[in-house]
Formats: sequence, C-alpha cells, structure tokens
Amino acid sequence: MTKPEFRVFNSREEVAAAVARHLAETLSAKPAATLGLATGKTFIPIYAEVVEHFKKGEMSFAKAASFNLDEYVGLPAGHPASFRSYMEEHLFRHVDLPAADAHLPSVEGEVEASCAAYEAAITARGGIDLQLLGIGQNGHIGFNEPGSAFDSRTRQVELTQSTIEANTSDFPAGELPPPSAVTMGVGTIVDAKEIVLVALGANKTEALKAAFASAPSTDCPASALQAHGKVVVYCDAAAKGDIEG
Ligand code: F6R
Repeated sequence: MTKPEFRVFNSREEVAAAVARHLAETLSAKPAATLGLATGKTFIPIYAEVVEHFKKGEMSFAKAASFNLDEYVGLPAGHPASFRSYMEEHLFRHVDLPAADAHLPSVEGEVEASCAAYEAAITARGGIDLQLLGIGQNGHIGFNEPGSAFDSRTRQVELTQSTIEANTSDFPAGELPPPSAVTMGVGTIVDAKEIVLVALGANKTEALKAAFASAPSTDCPASALQAHGKVVVYCDAAAKGDIEG
C-alpha cells in the first residue's frame, strides 16, 4: 500500500488554485492527455480557476479528451442539474476542448452496451492520464456507493438516500435527483495513471479517514485508492481534521 500524498491548504480558494495548477502542469507535459473529470460542488471553484488559466493562455485542451465519471439516468436532455449541463456551464463552453472529445456516460437507449462502449473509448485513448475525484460523505467515488466491488466497471447503479439528499440542492426547488445513474466503476477509476482527489469541509473528514486511515473495505469505495501508487489528496484544513500524515 502506498500512502497518498496529502496537500493541505488553509482555504478552499487555495485548494482550487493548486488543483487547477496540477491540471495545467499535466496538460503542459502532455497536451493530448486523457482526463477523467468530476462534477459536484467541490469542483465549481476549481473549474473557475481552470477557465482563468485558459483565458490567460496558460492552458489548452485542444488536443485533450475528457471522460466524466457519471451522469444521472432519466433526466430530460438539457436538464439544468444534469452533469452534461454542469460541465457545459462550468468548463466546456469556456475552453477549447473539442466537443466530440468531451465525453459523459450515455444514459440513453441500451445502457449496458453504452457502458461497454464508454470503457472501450477510454481504452482506445490509451487510458486516463489524470483522474479528478471528489468524495461523498459515505466514501463514494463517482457514484460507486458503499458495497461497490473494487473491480467494478462502468454500469448503472442506484443512489443511496444520503447521496440523493446531498445532491438535492443542485436541483430546482421541489425536484429530487433521480434514483439511478451511470458511473465509471471503481476498477475503471483505479486504472487511471494518476488520481487527484479533492475534499473540502469538515463533513468530508470521516470519509477521508475511512478511505486512507483505515483498512481498505468496500464499505468505503474510496479506500480502493490505497492500492494505487499515485494518488494526491488536495484538501482544506477542515477536511483534513485530525488525520495524520
Ligand atoms: C461527481 C461525483 C461525486 C462527487 C461527490 C462529492 O461527478 O462523481 O462522487 O464528487 O459526491 O460531491 P460534492 O463535491 O458536491 O461534495
């Protein structure tokens, strides 16, 4: 087991700046990098920083490709809380990533075949060079909820009540998130060459502890990352809490 490197900052703004710099360095070293992207509240300030780098000419996605972790099943196309809409709003429409190379899991039609095609498309690009991850309070990565097998691949999953509650504020008033989603698997995620996991706020400390300061267990899907040799955890002091290291 290789311990992940923790990079701890005093504020969310500093975390966002550091993660954006990490991504800029990845793209500068490999302009045609294949990126694994996340959504969620954690990444809103990070993508804002990334867009600033892009506007200053410090970063280009022109040769890159991206694969998002997950998408809800059953939302109408263009729904404001879909992860496609999130990515358009916070990143895609502001940068030069070719639209054809900005992938999210397909949730239309024959889902099983689309999931296999998603895996195949990642493999055809040579695998993911840098995977960005948030973490759920229950230790989920992507939408791999507790109990997900460490070798799981892209598939349709049911969301837990706690995830539905955590994400309800992303939906228009009176609307709840759908009960299911398509997510890259834990196995898909750990195949990435490098992983950056970001956690902000004291409500993520327990998940970080279960992920990195306890024995790996499918009770905490993020603990699968302990077997990966190249994980960097960016967090604020509140999320780090009393975790050693
Ligand atoms: C998002 C995703 C989720 C989130 C996690 C944390 O694409 O896959 O695993 O990263 O739920 O969400 P926030 O950042 O909203 O706390």
